[in-house]
Amino acid sequence: MKYKRILLKLSGEALMGNKGFGIDQVRLMEYAKEIKAAYDSGCQVAIVIGGGNIFRGIQAEQGGMDRVHGDYMGMLATVINSMAIQSALENLKIETRLQSAIKMEQICEPFIRRKAVRHLEKGRVVIFGAGSGNPYFTTDSAAALRAIEIEADVILKGTRVDGIYTADPEKDPKATKYDRISFEEVYSKGLEVMDLTAFTLCKENNLPIIVFDMNKPGNLQNLIKGEKVGTLVEV
Ligand code: GTP
Repeated sequence: MKYKRILLKLSGEALMGNKGFGIDQVRLMEYAKEIKAAYDSGCQVAIVIGGGNIFRGIQAEQGGMDRVHGDYMGMLATVINSMAIQSALENLKIETRLQSAIKMEQICEPFIRRKAVRHLEKGRVVIFGAGSGNPYFTTDSAAALRAIEIEADVILKGTRVDGIYTADPEKDPKATKYDRISFEEVYSKGLEVMDLTAFTLCKENNLPIIVFDMNKPGNLQNLIKGEKVGTLVEV
């Protein structure tokens, strides 16, 4: 096993599956099974999930809503998705703990770094909800921050493309995929991996990023074993 402690970042939109909104139970269980396979291989798993399937702060701003207000609504959306993942994992008999960056003690624990690490050591999957608890930060940034705080070996960004390409593969058929790329090259080529805040946090703290296709069964497990899956961004 190459990675002993991972932070898996999932997008909220991915949970929609083929639906236009909300949570697709079939997709949710597929993800839970992928996570279980990784977990069963002995890896410590932490998860951050976005909220875009329920609410997007930026779009709300375009509709006239105050940005900060919209961002807080987005953070609450991530808690809903986190609870869904928690429930799906528990259906598969995996112990989990959900910690929120915004206190809501009737629903979950508050984020306490040392407790999160202890939970991981005890074999619980830890889900971090409510982003970083601050407006103007994306869930990618929250994922990078939490990954650094818990000293994860790598941040795994599950997407619907199988890595980083020279151009957007959904628009340019000639685009080719990188197996590995340095932080510097991502900057200099202007490639989009995460937003710059998240990316810079990873770079400055020497936290490797792997972008991979979460919708391909087995990818997550193979990646943890050290097989070449997706694109690795490192120093
Ligand atoms: P250790 O005993 O330290 O290994 O961890 P633990 O999580 O099992 O202990 P704890 O007694 O803190 O938690 C027991 C259960 O209560 C777990 O399911 C926690 O997620 C949950 N829990 C702990 N603190 C809170 C809280 O502030 N709010 C909510 N809603 N649940 C909590």
